[in-house]
Amino acid sequence: MKIALIGYGKMGKEIEQLALDRKHEIVLKIDPQSKDSIEQIEEAEVAIEFTTPDSAVSNIESCLNHQVPIVVGTTGWYDQWNSIEQLCEAKEGSLLAATNFSVGVNLFFALNRQLAQIMQDQSDYSSRIDEIHHLEKLDHPSGTAITLAEGIIEEHPDYDSWVNEDTDLKGKLNILSHREAGVPGTHEITYSSSIDEISIKHRAKNRKGFALGAVLAAEYIANKKGIFTMKDVLNLA
Ligand SMILES: NC(=O)c1ccc[n+]([C@@H]2O[C@H](COP(=O)([O-])OP(=O)(O)OC[C@H]3O[C@@H](n4cnc5c(N)ncnc54)[C@H](O)[C@@H]3O)[C@@H](O)[C@H]2O)c1
Repeated sequence: MKIALIGYGKMGKEIEQLALDRKHEIVLKIDPQSKDSIEQIEEAEVAIEFTTPDSAVSNIESCLNHQVPIVVGTTGWYDQWNSIEQLCEAKEGSLLAATNFSVGVNLFFALNRQLAQIMQDQSDYSSRIDEIHHLEKLDHPSGTAITLAEGIIEEHPDYDSWVNEDTDLKGKLNILSHREAGVPGTHEITYSSSIDEISIKHRAKNRKGFALGAVLAAEYIANKKGIFTMKDVLNLA
C-alpha cells in the first residue's frame, strides 16, 4: 500500500517503521519541516494523520476532498466531529478516527463498560479517571480518557457528564490529568468507597501498540467507503 504520513513526529516515525516492516511504501511524509505537502495527497492510497489538535481538521478535509481514505490518531479536535462526518458522507469518503489505536486499550474500553455496569447500583462508590502522559502532550484530558468517561456515563446512572478537575459535584465524573516526563499513556479507573477501592489500569509501555493499530486500520479502510472504528478493525463490535 502507498501510505502518506501526515505528521512526522513521535507517532509518524513509529508508524513508518511498522508500515515498512509490513511491506508498505511511505510515499509522502507531510510535516512543516518536510518538502512533501498536502497538495500531493493523491499520490497515496491511504493517509495516516498524527499531527496537532489545530491542524487535524484541515488535513482530514483535504484527504476527504481528494478521495484518499484517512486514519486519524490526533486527539483534541472532536468538537468538530459532526462537520467531518457530514463531509465524509457527502464525498462518499473513507475515515477511521480513534482516540487510541492500541489493541490493549480497545479491550480496556470494553472492560471499563463492563465494570461500570457491575457498579451501577453501588452508590457507596464514586468513580474517577486518572490519566498520565508525557509533558509534550497538547490536549487534556486525553482523548482516551474521554472515551473511557463516555463509556462510564452511558452505563452508570450516577454520571451525566465529565469534568477535567477534582470536584464533588453530583453527576460529574472527574477526570484528573497528570503530566510526567516520558510516559506514553497510562489510564486508571477507580471506584472508591469509605471502605475500599476497586481499580483497573492500562499502561502503555511504548508507542508500538498505537502505531501497529494505526497501520492495521489503514489496511482495513484502504478499499472501503464509510466511517469506521477500531471495533470494526479488531472485530470487537
Ligand atoms: N490515537 C492514538 O492512539 C494516539 C497515540 C499517540 C498519540 N496520539 C495523538 O497523536 C497526535 C500526535 O502525537 P505525537 O506524539 O506524534 O506528537 P508529535 O508532537 O511528536 O508530532 C506531531 C507532528 O505533527 C507535525 N505537524 C504539526 N502541524 C502539522 C500540519 N499542519 N501538517 C503536518 N504535520 C504537522 C509536527 O511538526 C510534529 O512533527 C497528538 O494529538 C497525540 O495526542 C494519538
